[in-house]
Amino acid sequence: MVYQPDENRYQRMAYRRCGQSGLKLPAISLGLWHNFGDTTQVENSRALLQRAFDLGITHFDLANNYGPPPGSAERNFGRILQEDFLPWRDELIISTKAGYTMWDGPYGDWGSRKYLIASLDQSLKRMGLEYVDIFYHHRPDPETPLRETMKALDHIVRQGKALYVGISNYPTDRAREAIEILNDLGTPCLIHQPKYSMFERGVEDGLLTMLQEKGVGCIAFSPLAGGQLTDRYLNGIPADSRAASGSRFLNPDQLTAGKLEIVRELNALAEKRGQKLSQMALAWVLRNDNVTSVLIGASKTAQIEDAVGMLANRHFTEQECANIDTILNRTR
Ligand SMILES: NC(=O)c1ccc[n+]([C@@H]2O[C@H](COP(=O)([O-])OP(=O)(O)OC[C@H]3O[C@@H](n4cnc5c(N)ncnc54)[C@H](OP(=O)(O)O)[C@@H]3O)[C@@H](O)[C@H]2O)c1
Repeated sequence: MVYQPDENRYQRMAYRRCGQSGLKLPAISLGLWHNFGDTTQVENSRALLQRAFDLGITHFDLANNYGPPPGSAERNFGRILQEDFLPWRDELIISTKAGYTMWDGPYGDWGSRKYLIASLDQSLKRMGLEYVDIFYHHRPDPETPLRETMKALDHIVRQGKALYVGISNYPTDRAREAIEILNDLGTPCLIHQPKYSMFERGVEDGLLTMLQEKGVGCIAFSPLAGGQLTDRYLNGIPADSRAASGSRFLNPDQLTAGKLEIVRELNALAEKRGQKLSQMALAWVLRNDNVTSVLIGASKTAQIEDAVGMLANRHFTEQECANIDTILNRTR
């Protein structure tokens, strides 16, 4: 059956301005790191994208290496895009990245002009696109001069292969320097993509403030700490969960008794607010106006529905924030 998006999709989502740019992003964006590679049934990936778009999620985030195997998430996304979403290309913000190991030899990793330009060309081919909306440098490179990496981003925009550029995983000082170089070059940095959740609060130490001062947006990745900040693991480790999948990013050892106790307390607090823990965790990241969007992952359409349901209750009292801090600061 030909996909027809829900016509009420734009009434269900909030859109937030990305820094001081002209671009607005949905408060919730969908990442394709997991569940879009060749180990997932394409029909499941298709259902996730369709449900997301039906709920007003206009932003899909990829990277050259998403899979497994690397490249397959872009290829599968490209196929679904051609089959289902082509009439709505102009309603979508599609991002990809380069910066982690992608191919053998010295030109398939890190931040050289050689790597970034070749990698984006490969990504565009895999997705069947002429341009992406946002192209990121995925992680800082300690060896390549920052100006070379930023000039490559500037060049890519001038070539028309990306409309905007961003950086990811850059610490505050390096990010400031990158933003200043890009400003100098006349291609402002649209957005930074750091990790941010109740369990990973490093961005609160200056990065968010600096981004706001510079007028750069922020999209928070892994806002549910890969699923830890949900009810997923309250009664053991489900067979279909990320922690059971052999992921090196979330393994059963990380789900310690102490951490689960914290999760249980947060869950009780969320219940008092009349929402699920996953919803409270997303609302908490968005409580900060400097965060443009939360970048979630999902293995099931119901998880995307949960996320969007959060929008009905995003407000926190000072007391609730203090209670959350107390729970999070407890060492067990
Ligand atoms: N720039 C970078 O270096 C970088 C790094 C990592 C990620 N990212 C981006 O961020 C995106 C999201 O990362 P992430 O997948 O780690 O995000 P996340 O939102 O913290 O975790 C998503 C996982 O949590 C579980 N989940 C989600 N909603 C749930 C719910 N309502 N109830 C129970 N469980 C729920 C699902 O896992 P199950 O499989 O257990 O169902 C889901 O796959 C990625 O796709 C990627 O685009 C970027």
